[in-house]
Amino acid sequence: MRMTDLIVKKRDGESLSKKEIRFIIKGYVQGDIPDYQMSAWAMAVYFRGMSLEETAELTLAMANSGDQLDLSAIGGRFVDKHSTGGVGDKATLLIGPMVAACGVPVAKMSGRGLGHTGGTIDKLSSIPGFRVELTQEEFLTQVKKIGLSVIAQTGNLVPADKKLYALRDVTGTVSSIPLIASSVMSKKIAAGAQGIVLDVKYGSGAFMKTVEDARILARTMVDIGKALGRQTIAVLSNMNQPLGRAVGNSLEVLEVADALQGKGPDDLMKVCLELGAWMLVAGDSVPNVGAGKKCLLHSIESGAAWNKFLTFLTEQGGDAQAVIDRRLKLTPWNLPILAHQSGYVQPFDAQKIGILAMTLGAGRTTKDSPIDLGTGVLLVKKAGEWVEAGEPLLQLYGSDKEKLAEGLLLAKDLVSVGNEAPELPSLIEEVIQ
Ligand code: URA
Repeated sequence: MRMTDLIVKKRDGESLSKKEIRFIIKGYVQGDIPDYQMSAWAMAVYFRGMSLEETAELTLAMANSGDQLDLSAIGGRFVDKHSTGGVGDKATLLIGPMVAACGVPVAKMSGRGLGHTGGTIDKLSSIPGFRVELTQEEFLTQVKKIGLSVIAQTGNLVPADKKLYALRDVTGTVSSIPLIASSVMSKKIAAGAQGIVLDVKYGSGAFMKTVEDARILARTMVDIGKALGRQTIAVLSNMNQPLGRAVGNSLEVLEVADALQGKGPDDLMKVCLELGAWMLVAGDSVPNVGAGKKCLLHSIESGAAWNKFLTFLTEQGGDAQAVIDRRLKLTPWNLPILAHQSGYVQPFDAQKIGILAMTLGAGRTTKDSPIDLGTGVLLVKKAGEWVEAGEPLLQLYGSDKEKLAEGLLLAKDLVSVGNEAPELPSLIEEVIQ
């Protein structure tokens, strides 16, 4: 079998057999298939798509490309959560402690930033000392002890996704239904989840621009999960506006700290309560979503979720006091964008905010390029809010003078102000199971 022939086959819109898909994944992980051929293949998949059978086989081949976790030692029913990616999406950092405080263990592997979206592991890296890499034994011991651990994909878990995820990030091949579905589901399956709650985002800041495409992605993942005996629930959520006010790693962790102490923005809290409640339902800890939301709200009001977050940071070597004291690294190169007139802030393009944050230093330009964790965008005003002329709309944090200047140019016409309050769409579209 030759990779060149398989690239051509997919380029011409033909289906790949199970054997061919396994050959591609195995060859790529072993290093026999180089990045340039894998990029061409990913682009062919991007344009030609894959059938459900091909996507399921790709998922399995990826899940089997490395070790599989055995979480039975944790005990109880183990539930995982995953987002298909958005701008300002720090939901895992809130949901993890809330769900754990409600008694359902959270043992989560997360990713780094992808395209214009951020990743939980980059956000956690902004906390001094925090270890995103633990051995499997340390990971399981911590979950047993405190009910919560979030780590990067460890050693040999889904190496196929580790390589392909980084490659897609820099080759324009992220927004593909089969590639996203297989990337997400292979990780959840290899990580041993019995229940899986998916946040499938749609809109300008998501990889799926329309609700119809998001629905197909959600249905594909739910069907793959079901076929493999894992209860899978997908929540379709709107990503036309960034979630919360902070976009960028340190900035987002600070917003999470506020939210866990009861001062979270409404949109962020709404999405987290919905997803967290479904996790509690899937974990058999509450009878329905309403009861789940009640428990999660109580975890915030009682301080249990905030305490769980601080314990989690400390257990993984992080400086929890630095979060309490708001001493996370933020660049000194920051400037506001001011409103020229008074009025209601109009909806803006979430993807453009994501690209702005990347331009300021919060995203990668090549597979191995570093990111500046202290950069990003603070949405001082969000769509629908009133602003007075001369007040800040955005605060930009650039890694140096040049990046800040580049960001200022991009941000200039990004937010407009009008006389009418805009109508904002509902955040949660539907739940697919
Ligand atoms: N999240 C993932 O893990 N993979 C993708 O491809 C997109 C979002």
